Amino acid sequence: MDRIDLLIASLAEQAEARRRDRAGVTEPQIERAVSRMQAAGYWPATGAGETYRALATWLATVAAGQATRGLLLWGGPGRGKTYFLGKFCRADRTIRASQIVELYQEWGRSRVLAWLEADELDDVPADYYRLTLDDLGAEPTGKRYGETTEILADVIDQRYREWQRRGWAGATFVSTNLTPEEVADRYGERTSSRLAEMTAAIHIDGPDWRMA
Ligand SMILES: Nc1ncnc2c1ncn2[C@@H]1O[C@H](COP(=O)(O)OP(=O)(O)OP(=O)(O)O)[C@@H](O)[C@H]1O
Ligand SMILES: [Mg+2]
Repeated sequence: MDRIDLLIASLAEQAEARRRDRAGVTEPQIERAVSRMQAAGYWPATGAGETYRALATWLATVAAGQATRGLLLWGGPGRGKTYFLGKFCRADRTIRASQIVELYQEWGRSRVLAWLEADELDDVPADYYRLTLDDLGAEPTGKRYGETTEILADVIDQRYREWQRRGWAGATFVSTNLTPEEVADRYGERTSSRLAEMTAAIHIDGPDWRMA
């Protein structure tokens, strides 16, 4: 293929991905999500319109009961990833990747995974199986008795099974400063392909709110 064919193919692919992600969501529903974000004070005065529309589109699928996947928000510091997950993503538990490594070093792999799976309640609260995983990639590699483990790769694998089992009810919301390529480099293709399937990846650019 020459360059123009490649370009056309990649544009077609992007359009298809957009259709898939907003399947069934109408423009007024997206506008309502935009208003909701604005009312919550989550909207930049200038710039980053595309990013915020992508977030609003995703929110609209949630409001319409059509969301199937979680979120992977990636981008530089201070862009509002953690803030968005806290305000708009309903999960019973939020944990930072570095906290998972601390638990791993204290407890070992199987206990951490069992704790995360915690599945033995009779009375399951709403949003219980959804998990927010903040700051993926900011954690050190886990070390325990001379063994090193990327425990987050195991956690993502477990979350993938949870999602396959429960669908939206088992969704995972992730924030990271890593690019998708860096995620693949650090945790391997297996992990990044699972993430790609179970989340909608949105690159959060725009202003660094901490500097604003
Ligand atoms: N859209 C927004 N509107 C208003 N304030 C925001 C917005 N996004 C972020 N902020 C503010 O900016 C600060 C930084 O945002 P946040 O912690 O979400 O960044 P982050 O993308 O998670 O950064 P890091 O990668 O360093 O974790 C927060 O204290 C939050 O109050
Ligand atoms: Mg953050």
